[in-house]
Amino acid sequence: MTDHILIERHGAVQIIRMNRSEKKNALTRAMYATMSAALTEGDADPSIRVHVFLGVPGAFSAGNDLTDFLAVATGAGGGNEVWDFLMALANSQKPIVSGVDGIAVGIGTTLNLHCDLTFATPRTVFRTPFVDLGLVPEAGSSLLAPQILGLQGAFALLGLGEGISAERAVRAGLIYDVVEEDGLEGAVLAAAEDIAAKPPEALKIARDLMRGPRDGLVARIREEAEHFRERLQSDEARAALVAFMNRKKAR
Ligand code: COA
Repeated sequence: MTDHILIERHGAVQIIRMNRSEKKNALTRAMYATMSAALTEGDADPSIRVHVFLGVPGAFSAGNDLTDFLAVATGAGGGNEVWDFLMALANSQKPIVSGVDGIAVGIGTTLNLHCDLTFATPRTVFRTPFVDLGLVPEAGSSLLAPQILGLQGAFALLGLGEGISAERAVRAGLIYDVVEEDGLEGAVLAAAEDIAAKPPEALKIARDLMRGPRDGLVARIREEAEHFRERLQSDEARAALVAFMNRKKAR
């Protein structure tokens, strides 16, 4: 457990809140572990019908903690926490709603590709600088983003690392709606409560039909993870991670 993830309950809605504002919600291994447990335990608990992901004002998530990436890059780290989280997300049995405000980098963007409804504020920018970091797309984004955005839209997001505004993300079908900051959490909760009030068996069948079998997605996440692990050891990634760590010293 970590205080950087807060688990709250609103009736049948489980809220998983990323709460490490001092680091813009960069995700540590402990945070992934707590989020995986919440998803799998929530899936097994009949009193929970919907999962919700939220961040803090101005930051949904700045992505994986780059100190953790650097530890792997230098042979000093490892662990299955990210993998376990991605499996819990890809295999989730219950609808997921997310509310995104501000920073949404890396997994802060790709997590939403697994959500059933995402609301974002006008100041939100979705960005995945994997290639700039010497890395490759993760969380099944190399499969899901082209399905949603088409090949060129996906290339701009995942290859160029181009930021996508909330307005553009709605038009592209990447997210469901744009909501002003002061209405974000209300809109997310209202949608989650609507979902929770639906007949759960019919909703589960409908959701499973829309998503189809998960095997292809899981296989892609595995393939991405193999490349990702290899890339973390590369000179390109090491140089980019060290440059991030040193950027404030250079100012
Ligand atoms: N990993 C580790 N620490 C991170 C982080 C990350 N992914 N993102 C932000 N932080 C830390 C910063 O180092 C800083 O820590 P410090 O105050 O101890 O120096 C703190 O969070 C605040 O970040 P800062 O960069 O000062 O905020 P900002 O508003 O100027 O910029 C970002 C925010 C997200 C644009 C910028 O921090 C960034 O580019 N982060 C890296 C994002 C990334 O590449 N993620 C991985 C994707 S695969």
